[in-house]
Amino acid sequence: MNPRLSVIGTGYLGATHAACMAELGFEVIGLDISPAKVELLTKGTVPFYEPGLDEVLARNIANGRLRFTTDFAEAASHADVHFICVGTPQAAGAQKADMSQVFGSVEQLAPHLSADALVVGKSTVPVGTADEIARRLAITNPSVEVAWNPEFLREGFAVNDTLHPDRLVVGVRSDRAEQRLREVYAPIINEGVPFLVMDFPTAELVKVAANSFLATKISFINAMAEVCEAAGADVTRLAEAIGYDPRIGNRFLAAGLGFGGGCLPKDIRAFMARAGELGADEALLFLREVDQINLRRRAHTVDLARKMLDGSFIDKRITVLGASFKPDSDDVRDSPSLDVAVAMSNAGADVVVHDPKGLENAARVYPHMVYNQDVMSALQDADLVVLGTEWREYRELDPVAAAAQVRVARIIDGRNTLDPQMWRAAGWTYRALGRPHA
Ligand code: UGA
Repeated sequence: MNPRLSVIGTGYLGATHAACMAELGFEVIGLDISPAKVELLTKGTVPFYEPGLDEVLARNIANGRLRFTTDFAEAASHADVHFICVGTPQAAGAQKADMSQVFGSVEQLAPHLSADALVVGKSTVPVGTADEIARRLAITNPSVEVAWNPEFLREGFAVNDTLHPDRLVVGVRSDRAEQRLREVYAPIINEGVPFLVMDFPTAELVKVAANSFLATKISFINAMAEVCEAAGADVTRLAEAIGYDPRIGNRFLAAGLGFGGGCLPKDIRAFMARAGELGADEALLFLREVDQINLRRRAHTVDLARKMLDGSFIDKRITVLGASFKPDSDDVRDSPSLDVAVAMSNAGADVVVHDPKGLENAARVYPHMVYNQDVMSALQDADLVVLGTEWREYRELDPVAAAAQVRVARIIDGRNTLDPQMWRAAGWTYRALGRPHA
């Protein structure tokens, strides 16, 4: 018989995992402590923007395989395998992760767990967390087992990444735990997806190592962009040329405003903090540089904007295209584009922010900023346009129509995503990052 599943925490990760596991045929209960979220999900509404997730959620609620609750006892009585998918944000005033949701949810679940339950962590955590959870549960629930199963999904591609991952990684301490996870992931394993079994610390480290590598790759190309700016070279041509070497590869080499979001920035900081606690801080010193290069891109863009506006933001109107940290997401956590918008506003500019999906979240974080949902009216009377997130809508903008809206046709392409020739031909002064002569 199929194991029955619970998913604790229904954010980007948990809501997707719950819906996708139901899609694979399992009976799933999702738990969140927010009654408002549970109410929305129960109605089949995803509380955030993720392409394709609405349909999977609605379909599986309708067929009765998926439901939601705020009650830990109900989740525990429904399921044998419990996935912990709660957030591990950056702790206030510190570089490390705030682990209160992970330990809190396990603590609330523990009194209700059946004797043979399996608790599977999916949240991104400091190495040693699985061990600590197992140690705590051993006191109250001696026969309950723990496993660690990091998640590699990307926002914007969450459904596909969950149903068709590159690999499945599980940290276990027993054959029984491994077997149960093999049952849960059987439909995916049967498609030939590698199933990698390892110990707790290695499984936990795989996740942060992968995100650190991706962050490093982006900062590498952005460091090259800085050199290209100094040397009069073109970073996009450079990336294309080095990317043909299969050892390097052409993905994650898009130079621009750099990485943001709820994962990469806080994960590299938490990883450095944890390595420090373990006495291995020197090993990760380079991640400090990765973080610095990344943040410098934002500061550099603000400087470039000031320069293009003849040295001052005062009385200048700037339209920022993009509030989300990347396209196809409404997530504005640590968004490079929004960060640049706020910095220019704080420096005296009259900034209007447009985004196809992220404005509600942006307004929640920065209520004092001005937002406009319509791109053409957002462009009106602008002295400068800054493209900070490469939404398709912006790539498809007609430069002639856009030029007719603005006061002065000047644009910074912060994601190297527009065609400079086309924009120049329409009368725009075009500047991009890492391509001084583009
Ligand atoms: C990232 C990882 O890619 C996932 O594998 C991981 O599961 C996830 O974090 C997580 O830890 O949960 P995500 O944060 O959704 O996924 O976004 P990415 O697609 O990795 O993009 C991160 C940032 O890097 C974005 O701001 C994007 O604009 C930027 N980026 C990406 C670049 O600046 N250049 C690139 O070439 C690629």
